[in-house]
Amino acid sequence: MAELLKLNLSNAIDTAERKAAYEALLPEAEKALHTLFDGTGKGNDFLGWLRLPSSINLDFLDDVEHTAAILRKDCEFVVSVGIGGSYLGIKSTVEALRDSFDSYKGLETSKLLYAGNHISEDYLYELLELLRGHKFGIINISKSGTTTEPAIAFRLLKNLLEEQEGKEFAREHIVAVTDARRGALRTLADKEGYKTFVIPDDVGGRFTVLTPVGLLPLAVAGLDIKQLVQGAQDMEEATSLKVKPEDNPSLRYAVARNVLYREGKKIEIFANFSPKLQYVGEWLKQLYAESEGKDGVALFPSSANFTTDLHSIGQLIQQGERILFETFISIEKTWHQILIPEDEENLDGLNYLSAKRIDFVNKQAETGTLLAHVDGGVPNIHLSIPELNEYYLGQLYYFFEKAVGMSGYLLGINPFDQPGVEDYKGNMFALLGKPGHEEASKAIRARLDKMRQ
Ligand code: PA5
Repeated sequence: MAELLKLNLSNAIDTAERKAAYEALLPEAEKALHTLFDGTGKGNDFLGWLRLPSSINLDFLDDVEHTAAILRKDCEFVVSVGIGGSYLGIKSTVEALRDSFDSYKGLETSKLLYAGNHISEDYLYELLELLRGHKFGIINISKSGTTTEPAIAFRLLKNLLEEQEGKEFAREHIVAVTDARRGALRTLADKEGYKTFVIPDDVGGRFTVLTPVGLLPLAVAGLDIKQLVQGAQDMEEATSLKVKPEDNPSLRYAVARNVLYREGKKIEIFANFSPKLQYVGEWLKQLYAESEGKDGVALFPSSANFTTDLHSIGQLIQQGERILFETFISIEKTWHQILIPEDEENLDGLNYLSAKRIDFVNKQAETGTLLAHVDGGVPNIHLSIPELNEYYLGQLYYFFEKAVGMSGYLLGINPFDQPGVEDYKGNMFALLGKPGHEEASKAIRARLDKMRQ
């Protein structure tokens, strides 16, 4: 097994009280881990992610790669349609691993476009304009098959594709990733004869990055999905029941953040020092907010991109209300090296850094920030990966999934449902006049009329 990510709790569990609380919570977390494996806890019908990495076989990955290769060969662009768990893992992986200027350099990662992750008319107009006159494919991803945002985007994209290339090409270059049996997208895919991949019943949306939801678009983007899965498999082993609790990184992390939460640190900031990790922060926000924010309980997940955000929210982190802790995700080694050049005139006063690497400066900023924030009362959990690649992202994803399962049980909630996301949808459907919502529609209109008086 390659090197594993490192977890350093020395700036989080750093007082006698916290150490005692941590020790006291370890057995509870161990019990939570057993509950996950026994399948006897809340939400136990959504535990498919737990053994998912080790259950992925090579034939399946070959099928995914083969389908991706056809899309890549025949299409200038492939649009990945989906929202929430059917979008964020893809976006976070591509953003982490792409060259920042891929579209200008004509690199594979820039082939992949996104739709259905919001309801912006201008975005959809601009996307359709871009695709006009170009051969493109569509990966339509929806577990339920009924989500409004991707359904709208898909209808527009399908129409354009059929109009431009004909029904036959569209049929061969639309892939549906959805439930095995249920939902509108399953019905449509079966009727139209699209190639389909199945999202397992027992894997909730936010845990699907290692299912075809994530793997197919990532293979289209030219990324190494086998390495992603390998990383997750190694982390599955490193966090299994065979590992002692004090050596299990997901368990230690779950305990540490619950110790801090119980002490009143109600906001966790997932922070990075590389813009490539910005969307890993977004993926984490969904995973932790949807899993833990319920029954009046919440460890609010936030994210920060440093050093950029040190010039905005850094002030609040340093001196605002002391309800925060940070989880830094650090990359040990960059892909490239640049030395800061010497300048004869030194008008900017930077010669003290000449011949130093940019990443050396970044690392000093990271350590300086960590110490300043800890001194300011913001405990720091520090995670680091040796380098940014598919393998270590696979480790990270599974590490955080396992941790949120245990952490949810420590919080006493069901980490695998998301009943709260239905409430806004009910109102939206009532306002839109969706059939079946007539009564709610009348009530909400009366309420709005009152508000306007
Ligand atoms: O985690 C979840 O279940 C949600 O965020 C979903 O991923 C999101 O609503 C998209 O759902 P679907 O894939 O059913 O279209």
